Order: sequence, then C-alpha cells, then structure tokens
Amino acid sequence: MALVFPFDPNIERAATIPARLYNDPVYLELERERIFAHTWQLVGRSDQVKEHGQFFTATVGNDAIVVLRDRETVRGFYNVCLHRAGPVAQGCGKRNTLQCRYHGWTYGLDGTLIRAPEMQGVERFDPAEMHLVPIQIATWGPLVFANLDGKAPPLLDVLEDVPRRVAPFRCEEMAYVTRKEWDIACNWKVYVDNYLEGYHLPVVHPGLHKELDYDNYKVEPHRYFSIQHAPLRAVHGGNPDRRYDPARTEVAEAVYVWLFPNMMLNVYMGQMQTNVVIPMGHDRCRVVFEWFSAAPPADPAADAEWTRLLAFSDEIQDEDIEICEIVQRNLRSRVYDRGRYSAARENGVHHFHSLLHEFLT
Ligand code: FES
Ligand SMILES: [Fe+2]
Repeated sequence: MALVFPFDPNIERAATIPARLYNDPVYLELERERIFAHTWQLVGRSDQVKEHGQFFTATVGNDAIVVLRDRETVRGFYNVCLHRAGPVAQGCGKRNTLQCRYHGWTYGLDGTLIRAPEMQGVERFDPAEMHLVPIQIATWGPLVFANLDGKAPPLLDVLEDVPRRVAPFRCEEMAYVTRKEWDIACNWKVYVDNYLEGYHLPVVHPGLHKELDYDNYKVEPHRYFSIQHAPLRAVHGGNPDRRYDPARTEVAEAVYVWLFPNMMLNVYMGQMQTNVVIPMGHDRCRVVFEWFSAAPPADPAADAEWTRLLAFSDEIQDEDIEICEIVQRNLRSRVYDRGRYSAARENGVHHFHSLLHEFLT
C-alpha cells in the first residue's frame, strides 16, 4: 500500500486527509519516525530540574530519554546504556551520577562513562571516550522541551514571536499548580484536529460558547504553529451564569497556541495550561494537562477558584472526549474516507494536515 496520500494546499478545493491515516498502525510508526523524532516535544518542567543532579525520565516517540541538571546546564540523553541497552535512570530524583540498573555502568551528569566494572582486558574500550547519546533540550519559562533531532532548528526559532505575543500574560514567570491525564480511545490526530477549530463550539460546548465571542473567534496559522484567538463575550447586566467577565481582566481574550505536532498552550490572564497529546497506539492517545499560575494556590483542591476552574475544564474535556471517540469509531466506517473543510472555520485543521503531509511524504 502506498503511504503517500493526497493533499490540496488550497482549502477551498481540498478534501480532508484519508481515514487510513487514523486507522492504520503503519502511519503511527511513520509519524514516530518522521514527525516525533524531529520536532520539539514538551517533556517536563523546569522545577523538576532546578537543582544540580535533579533528573526526570520521559518518552519521545519510541525513545526513552532522561533530562537532568548539570550545574548551569539542563542536558538530555537517550536513556539507553551503551553496554546492553539498560536504563541509566528511572522515574525522577536527584543523583550525582547515573547508574545503569542492569550491570551498574556509571555515567557522569555530562554523559561520560566513568565506571564500567569488570571490563579489564577488553580491547579498544576506553570509558573516557564513551558518552550517552545527547539530545537537544530547551527551556521556556516553566517548560522543558526535547528534540531528538540534533539538526532541528532551535525551539525559539520554531516559536517565532510566540513569547512576545504572550508576554502580557507573563507565562514565563508562572509556577506549576497541578496536572491531570486522560486515556482516550482515538488516534492522536483526532484530538489535535478537534483542538484546532472553534467550529464545534456551538454544538459540542454550549457552556464555553456562552463565554466566547464566536463571531470573532479566529485561527492564525504560522509555519510550525497556529494561534487561536478567542475573545471573551461581553457581559451585560452582571449575568450570574458567566464564568469570565472581559471587563474584569486586562486582556479580554484567551489565546490558544498549538505547536506542531502535539502540544498546546492555553493562556488566560494569570494562568496557563499545557496539553500534550501522546500517541499510545493508532487508536489510543494519552492527553496530559498541566496548569501554571502567576499565584499558585497552596492546595488547588482546597481553593474555591481553582476547584471551579478545574471543574469547568473537565466539563469541556468530557465533551471533547465523547465526540473524539465517536469520530474515531466512525472513521472506520465503510462509507467514510475523506470530508471537506470549512474554509471559514477549519484553516487551523487544514494547516495541521499540510504539515503532516510535508513531514510524512
Ligand atoms: S546494560 Fe547498562 S550496565 Fe549493562
Ligand atoms: Fe472542544
């Protein structure tokens, strides 16, 4: 079967990508190889590698990695021992060296092999010349990103002017509040497609629709990211049902940044939320939300404002999960292969598909 697929860069003429991209496991392997191994992935938080020796482990595509702080530098390596592929780190913690938990080879925080027991007499074996394989790491405010591709452009080049655009929200100074994760029975792209348009707002999210000014909702595609602007709807006469009041915030807009392929940054005044969509199989994904705030509460579960905010987020997430899982099942229907895009409302989805096409074919 040919892995290539048709894609029309003109949204008015284009049909959506074929259903097999969501159903056939062969595409997931291709995506891991051609997309996830070459793009910036949000893997953790700066507060997890604040002190010398602190580390955490993560997975990017099929690859296990470890991220650590070595004095002033945050470094990343494949979490794969040079001996017989054991893990040099597990979970998270703080250590002065990394010791493989198979036969105990020990590496410095700069990745150099410093001790390999009982290897005397082995020819052409010099630990000082052996290093864990490094990967690119970049931090932005409280977020830590990794890129397996040593030749990939730096994160800040890919983000272009996103940091400047969200500067009024002061994201870089925010601190971690809490996290939640969901296992969802859909291909990771179904969840991303759904995120990238406000078209489903009136039907799927009646509660959120009341808060946002749908007519002025717009999606702005850039090279490797897109930005959705969702102005808050004006409140007339102190409507008690409303959760957000634009008159009470400095920036009367929510900004949703999506970074190709699978990361979202949702910014509101005083808080932001990251979403990462991790493929777990061709028809399953895990979605991780983390919240950050300029004024983190001591205990979000005991804080009335945060309880309300998290409950509203759950309401929207439940609505999205329900529709995404139905769509995944229907993408397997014998009668469906490709649909059409709304040129007015689905330019963000079309842009995502153009990047898929570019990376996969
Ligand atoms: S696999 Fe790491 S020490 Fe053997
Ligand atoms: Fe939604």
